[in-house]
Amino acid sequence: MLSQRAVGLALYLAALAAAGPCDIYASGGTPCIAAHATTRALYSAYTGSLYQLRRGSDNATTNIAPVSAGGVANAAAQDSFCSGTTCLIVQIYDQSGRGNHLTQAPPGGAASGPEPGGLDSLASAIGAPVTLNGQKAYGVFIHPNSGYRNNNANGTARGDAAEGIYAVLDGTHFNGGCCFDYGNAETNSQDTGNGHMETVYFGTGTGFGTGAGSGPWILADLENGLFSGGTTGVNTANPTITSRFVTAVVKGEPNHWSIRGGDGATGGLTTFYAGARPNANGYNPMSKEGAIILGIGGDNSNWAQGTFYEGVMTASYPSDATENSVQANIVAAKYAAVSLASGPAVTVGSTVSLRATTSCCTTRYLRHSGSAINTEVVSSSSNSTLKGQASWTVRAPLVSSAQGCVSFESRDTPGSFIRHSNYALVLNANDNSKIFHEDATFCPGAGLNGQGNTFRSWSYAPRYFRHYLANLYIASNGGFHDFDATGSFNDDVSWVVGAAFA
Ligand SMILES: *[C@@H]1O[C@H](CO)[C@@H](O)[C@H](O)[C@H]1NC(C)=O
Ligand SMILES: *[C@@H]1O[C@H](CO)[C@@H](O)[C@H](O)[C@H]1NC(C)=O
Ligand SMILES: *[C@@H]1O[C@H](CO)[C@@H](O)[C@H](O)[C@H]1NC(C)=O
Repeated sequence: MLSQRAVGLALYLAALAAAGPCDIYASGGTPCIAAHATTRALYSAYTGSLYQLRRGSDNATTNIAPVSAGGVANAAAQDSFCSGTTCLIVQIYDQSGRGNHLTQAPPGGAASGPEPGGLDSLASAIGAPVTLNGQKAYGVFIHPNSGYRNNNANGTARGDAAEGIYAVLDGTHFNGGCCFDYGNAETNSQDTGNGHMETVYFGTGTGFGTGAGSGPWILADLENGLFSGGTTGVNTANPTITSRFVTAVVKGEPNHWSIRGGDGATGGLTTFYAGARPNANGYNPMSKEGAIILGIGGDNSNWAQGTFYEGVMTASYPSDATENSVQANIVAAKYAAVSLASGPAVTVGSTVSLRATTSCCTTRYLRHSGSAINTEVVSSSSNSTLKGQASWTVRAPLVSSAQGCVSFESRDTPGSFIRHSNYALVLNANDNSKIFHEDATFCPGAGLNGQGNTFRSWSYAPRYFRHYLANLYIASNGGFHDFDATGSFNDDVSWVVGAAFA
């Protein structure tokens, strides 16, 4: 017969196994004061909303909750709400009960966003699909100019007070622009000086310190400096990250802080730095202000990109052991990458034409004229020049991690690809740069008017191939350009993929 004590222990172990990351932090005596995730509940008992969507067809909003207490987000509810239209993530709810929700970031000292009122853009709801234990969910795909913030957070660390932060990110989605951050920042969206921030940073940005190799790295943005450790040089113990999923940890307490990291799908955490505060003016003691940012810098520097799946903040210094248990929980959640494609198959290696489906324009095809891309009437009796201009070879995505996406190589100008540049589509020779690959990667979806396919920009995820006054753009539904107009949007972004003319 089991002793009462053994039963108690068994129940305790079962509870730990079922615990969410914030249950684990609470057991460690360092409870979450903010908990954000569009993918899953971070407490085993959490049944509330995870995030809010707004759709393009009627501007209606809805909240997405986990399928069950402590479970994965109800992606099917999102897919149903967003069917036949576009959706943006309006708000990421705080699961801690403190109301530390993240909303569209306001303008700041370094940059205003492009949206009305100088707000940053919102992230696409479909830019970062994944599965957790085989169940579909969506992360937050931050494109340049997008970001979320809360300048009135409750319970976050102030001054030199202790805190802990972790975030689960996409190791293949980053850039060197400032700053893909998650954590503690200024409450007025201005740069108020060294030591006024303490966040996880992910990317290839430099300034004060870098890790080994060419990046990307997990660094800490402490304001006016991305730090890899306690000094301002290279911290060779802070490696270039190569995994698809990344767990990134930054924590600080008086006279001491730490950066840790690991693969978000397997293994444990490694400590990249633990020790004294940086030996540069203003970083010891710290002057944390307690706002919360996601995808931007403290002064709204909004040039970065990256993907956020989940993350939390605590208002005390978590032990390494607590974080190691959280990492085990993240690994057990089994994040896995999935295809970004939907709708009719667009086959790599095939040669195709793309026909407009708006009623004005059903004999017009996407074609290039030099480097410009527009639509033109093309038929089997067109001359061979025009046929060549309207014919494309479907290639594997130039961003190799963008599963299911494609790139379009010109038939008559081999080596040149359709890419976006300043929101227009153009035909340029592939220079094999990271930015070219990103600008030339597009993800097929089902046509929003029920015909054919859409082609969504991988890097600017809310934006799709659209013809507007016969020219081609990457357009968002109701965005800030004239070519983002909502009228006939669904028709203008839907293309029938047919046989190539040449
Ligand atoms: C949604 O709201 C935006 C901004 O107010 C507006 O431009 C757009 O026309 C609205 N869309 C619909 C379908 O009502
Ligand atoms: C902060 O959150 C706590 C816990 O939910 C709550 O009791 C308190 O009233 C909040 N404080 C403010 C200023 O909103
Ligand atoms: C091919 O046809 C297009 C469209 O009718 C015309 O503008 C162009 O001049 C023609 N090119 C040649 C080489 O015939």
